[in-house]
Amino acid sequence: MNLNFNPQHIVILTGAGISAESGIRTFRDANGLWEDHDIMEVASPQGFDRDPELVHRFYNLRRQQLLSDEVHPNQAHLSLAKLEEDFKGKLSIITQNVDNLHEQAGSKNVIHMHGELLRMKCVETGKSLLNKRDIHVETPCPCCLKTGNLRPDIVWFGEYPMHMAKIEEELSQCDLFISIGTSGVVYPAAMFVQLAKSNGAYCIEVNLEQTQVSDDFDMHMQGPATETVENLVKLILS
Ligand code: APR
Repeated sequence: MNLNFNPQHIVILTGAGISAESGIRTFRDANGLWEDHDIMEVASPQGFDRDPELVHRFYNLRRQQLLSDEVHPNQAHLSLAKLEEDFKGKLSIITQNVDNLHEQAGSKNVIHMHGELLRMKCVETGKSLLNKRDIHVETPCPCCLKTGNLRPDIVWFGEYPMHMAKIEEELSQCDLFISIGTSGVVYPAAMFVQLAKSNGAYCIEVNLEQTQVSDDFDMHMQGPATETVENLVKLILS
């Protein structure tokens, strides 16, 4: 397997599959998070209006896990950080993941399109703030000082993803687009491959299995991210 050109601008889209081997559950695989939880109850504005404490509990548990000793960046995150360091052209990572494992691995140019577990938002001022603690309905907001105004800074179903103008610009300019560990069922991320491809980018998909968008890619690398991403990075840097 080889790349027949030297890329100058790489855009990498990551999903839950890249963090799976770090112990963070994906959403739609067997034993995925959406098997145990009703999406609309814990990941929609309507669910939050109905039962904010339930939603806080869901994200508090996920934040606690991320901050615990059990979760670390894996070889796939580390390989991407090395790629960013050694690659001579432009590189950015667009992640749907709300964990910070790319940053922990050393990646610098990371765009969180679905928000971040370690941030909270004031619903009154719209201000986003760093947060490592549990949030409850009665937690006072550090910016407006009121209770009941804090929510996880996460993009829920029905909400518009973050940084879309920047993402579309990157996708229109890249010559290599790589998608890692995402099922390709959630839009707009699922159509990034088409956007990149229509602008002439070579597109590679890395996944444990075929996805419903696999046919849109020029190359499919099948296997666990911890192995395939390292091989792909070697290929790009060689
Ligand atoms: N290596 C590579 N790929 C893997 C691995 C692994 N070790 N483990 C799982 N995968 C793949 C699965 O085959 C699947 O295609 O990762 C994908 C995970 O898919 P989803 O659970 O649907 O996660 P994702 O695509 O990131 O979901 C998108 O949906 O609910 C929302 O907001 C949430 O950001 C999330 C969005």
